[in-house]
Amino acid sequence: MTTPNLFTPLALGPLVLPNRVVMAPLTRMRAGPGAVAGPTAPRYYAQRASAGLIIAEASQVSPQGQGYASTPGIHSEAQIAGWKAVTEAVHAAGGLIFLQLWHVGRISHSSVRPDGSLPVAPSAVKPEGRTPNAAGQPVDFEVPRALDLAELPALVETYAQAARNAMAAGFDGVEIHGANGYLLEQFLNDQTNLRTDAYGGSIANRARLLLEVVDAVTAVWGSDRVGLRLSPFGTANGISESDPIAVHSYVIPEVSRRKLAYLHLIEPRASGTGKADVDFADRPSAAKLFRDVYDGVLMAAGNFTAESANAALDEGWADVIAFGRHFISNPDLPNRIRTGAALTPYNRPTFYGGDDKGYTDYPELDGTVR
Ligand SMILES: Cc1cc2nc3c(=O)[nH]c(=O)nc-3n(C[C@H](O)[C@H](O)[C@H](O)COP(=O)(O)O)c2cc1C
Repeated sequence: MTTPNLFTPLALGPLVLPNRVVMAPLTRMRAGPGAVAGPTAPRYYAQRASAGLIIAEASQVSPQGQGYASTPGIHSEAQIAGWKAVTEAVHAAGGLIFLQLWHVGRISHSSVRPDGSLPVAPSAVKPEGRTPNAAGQPVDFEVPRALDLAELPALVETYAQAARNAMAAGFDGVEIHGANGYLLEQFLNDQTNLRTDAYGGSIANRARLLLEVVDAVTAVWGSDRVGLRLSPFGTANGISESDPIAVHSYVIPEVSRRKLAYLHLIEPRASGTGKADVDFADRPSAAKLFRDVYDGVLMAAGNFTAESANAALDEGWADVIAFGRHFISNPDLPNRIRTGAALTPYNRPTFYGGDDKGYTDYPELDGTVR
C-alpha cells in the first residue's frame, strides 16, 4: 500500500478534495462598509481555487464578535450577498470553499465595534499588550465585560445563524474558529476563564461553550460539513493554559465522537506570540500528540513546506495540510508544489488592510495574474 502525498485526493465528508494543499484561513482586513467582503474578494479567492479546499478568512458571527477594522461578517443580508459573489467565483473556477466562523471575545477594542461597546469575554481579564484601534494605531486593551450566564444561549445561536447564513451564501461547509486565543479558546483556558458557573472551573465546564457551538453548527450543516480549528499549546493573544494536555485530552475525543468533516490543529510554533520566554522547541507537535485520540480527518497547519507536509502525510500523523502565508503570495501554490517550482516570497506589510496590492496582484508561475 502506498502512503498518500499532497496530490492524493481526499474524501472530506461528502466532498472529495482533488489535492491535500488547503488554503488556511487568512484575515486580510479588506472588507468594505458594513463588514461586507470587499469587491475584489471574489477575484482573490478564485485565483486560489486550485487549493484542495479554501478556508475563507475568519468572519465575525455578530457585531459583538468583531475584533479588528475591516474584517468581514456573516450576520447581515449584505454580508451574505458579498460572500455569495465569492463562492460563485470559486465554484466557477472549480474550487471548494468553507467559511471560518469567528468571535474574537476580548481580543478587540471598543473603537472597532459597530456600537462602540466593550469587548466581551468569559471573565473580566484584560489581555496584556496592545491592539490596533479603528484607525490602526496600537492602543492598550480594555478590560472586557464578562458575559452573563443568561447571554450564552443567544451567543450560541449567533453561531447557528451565521452557519445558516454561510449556507445561504453558497459555501460548501464551515470551520469553527476555536483557536488562537479568541472567544472559544478564552473559555477553554484556565487563565482567561475564571467563571464559577457551569461554563468555568472543570475542564468539562470550560469546554461546554465550544461543544455547544459545535453541536449548534452541526445541527445546521450536518456534522460532515463542519470543521473545527484548535491550537493546543498555543500562546496567541495571551493564552497560557496551565495543562494543555489535560484540556485537549478531553476536548479532542469529545470532538471525535461528533464525526466532523475534519479537525484542524495549528502546530504550537505557529500559534504563539514570538515571545522569547516561550520555548516552542519544548512543545510537542499537536497533530502527532493527538492523532491517536482523534478518529477522522486531521488537518495540520503551521510553517509547513512541501517537504515537511509530504513527510507528515507519509508518516501518517496528518491527512491534509493547510498553508497560510505561501498561499498569499502563490495563488497557484498546488501547481508550484507539484512541479517543484520556486515560491514567490510574501510581502508582510500588505497582509492586513490596504488595497489590491499584495492581495490580487501576485502572479502564477507563468507570470499570469488571473
Ligand atoms: C495574514 C494572516 C492572517 C491570518 N488570519 C487567520 C484567520 O483569519 N483565522 C485563523 O484561524 N488563522 C489565521 N491566521 C493563521 C494561519 O491560518 C496559519 O495558521 C498560520 O499562518 C501558520 O501557517 P503558515 O506557516 O502556513 O503561514 C492568519 C495568519 C496570517 C499570516
